[in-house]
Order: sequence, then C-alpha cells, then structure tokens
Amino acid sequence: MSVKLTRKDEFAVITLDRQEALNALSAAVLRELAQAFGQVAASDARALIVTGAGAKAFCAGADIKELVGRSMSEQRRDAAFGQGVLACLDELPMPSVAAINGYAFGGGMELALACTFRIAAPTAKMGLPEIKLGLIPGYGGTQRLPRVIGEARALDIIMSGRTLDAEEALRIGLVHRVAEGDVLEAAIAYARQFNAYGLPALRLARDAVKRAHDVPLHEGLRIEADLNTLAFQTGDAAEGMNAFMEKRKPQFKDR
Ligand code: CAA
Repeated sequence: MSVKLTRKDEFAVITLDRQEALNALSAAVLRELAQAFGQVAASDARALIVTGAGAKAFCAGADIKELVGRSMSEQRRDAAFGQGVLACLDELPMPSVAAINGYAFGGGMELALACTFRIAAPTAKMGLPEIKLGLIPGYGGTQRLPRVIGEARALDIIMSGRTLDAEEALRIGLVHRVAEGDVLEAAIAYARQFNAYGLPALRLARDAVKRAHDVPLHEGLRIEADLNTLAFQTGDAAEGMNAFMEKRKPQFKDR
C-alpha cells in the first residue's frame, strides 16, 4: 500500500509513501486515495492532514511512466477519475490541510490545491510543469489555481511551468503558512485551531466561499443567505449564541 491512513490525536493523516517515484500518483495510488478519503469522511476525525513520506517529496505529480502511450479515451477516463478523487478531498465534511514537505508538482500540487489549507516546509518547491511535457494540468489545476491566486498569476505559473519556492508561494497566497519547524507538526497545529468550532459551521463557511466562484454575485449572496439560515438551524448555533449570552465558552457538538 502506498497510501497510509493513520491517526494523530483527533486528526486523520494520509501519507503518500512511494518514495522511489517521489510519491507520484499512479492509478493504484489514486484508487487507494479514493478509499482513504471515503474512510476519513465516515470517521470522527476533526481534520485531515495530507503529506508525503520522506524528506524529498510531497508528490511529484501523475506517474509519467504510466502516461506514456495512453490513448485519448484512456486519458479522458483517467483525468475524470483523478478529478473525481480530488473532488472527494475538496468536499470532505471536515477541513483538510496539505503539509507540503518537498516537491509538489503537477498532480501533487493539484492534490494540495484540493485541500482546504496548505502549509509548506521552507524547502518546498511547487509548480505545474505539465507544459514542459507538452501537456496541461488534468487533475483540477487549471480550475483551482486561478480560484486560489487569481487568473494572471495562474496563467504565469501554468504557461511557464516554472517552480515556486515556499516564500513566493506564501507571498501570492498559494500556501497559508511556511512552517518554522516540522511541517507535519505545523499542519496539525494549524488544524487544531478549528477544534474550538463545530464541523457543520466550518463546512458551511467553506462551501459558501467555494461556491462563490461558480456563480454571479447576486446568486452567491442567495447561497450565503441559504447556508447562513442552515447554520442557524443547528444545535451548535443555539449553543454558541446561548453561551455568548451566558458569558461562558460554548460546547459545540457538531450538530
Ligand atoms: N512520475 C513517475 N516517476 C517519477 C515522477 C513522476 N511524476 N517524478 C519523479 N519520478 C521518479 C524518477 O523517474 C526517478 O525514478 P528512477 O530513479 O527510477 O529514474 C525517481 O522518481 C527520482 O526522481 P529524479 O531522479 O528525477 O529526482 P530529482 O531530485 O533529480 O528531480 C524532480 C526531482 C524535479 C521532481 C523530477 O523528478 C521531476 O521533474 N519529476 C517530474 C515532475 C512532473 O513533471 N510532474 C508532473 C507530472 S504530469 C501531471 O501531474 C499531470 C496532471 O496534471 C495530473
């Protein structure tokens, strides 16, 4: 198995461990990831951390050795499958944090982009180098990158295929933090801040922001009002407002 699902305190941790290929995403790895995301979704984990084994790579992208000689229909099927697997990550009921411990290229950067948050090691290197292979990103990079950092910067990165270091990634908002010590520990510490809040409200907040990209402003405002009303119906909302009135800390129960 190249995908290891473990538990660290209240968090699920998925580690890609295929170090001989810099943790590249073979078809088998994608299938294992799909299964692991399903297990995390059904678990009581407060957040998911995704990282790579070893000091060198988070994930060097799709397995190029498997791409060679693929027919058009095979590639169409693979792209749809890879996109579907990363959509499962994007839509988990809890926040996810990519702990980018080294190279995150191509599908590896797309995996990080499908996480809610990204924390990079100071030595991390990121990019979408598909153009250098005569390709373009296929696991969501052309869609998620501009949504995260804007069209101009996304075009620069995708059409040049250049490599970004952690400092630039932080400056342009591609990553949320650069870790000062161990990147996995930093990602867990980052995820821990959400323990104070209820998962339904966290999820509704994330979904409201993410759906904003797909619709005109008036429609987005309607979605916000709908999700805000949904949040209002939860026991956590009653508890949060009562706790404020009673000047005590709320005890959220995720419902
Ligand atoms: N697929 C398959 N194998 C890979 C791989 C990948 N994406 N990246 C690295 N490897 C393998 C290498 O072939 C090598 O194996 P061998 O020893 O058997 O030859 C091993 O991992 C170590 O790699 P390097 O010797 O190249 O290590 P390096 O430190 O010199 O270079 C690197 C590291 C700059 C990341 C370089 O390996 C590299 O450029 N990798 C490819 C990155 C890339 O182009 N990714 C995009 C893939 S396409 C894609 O992802 C499409 C999509 O949108 C889904």
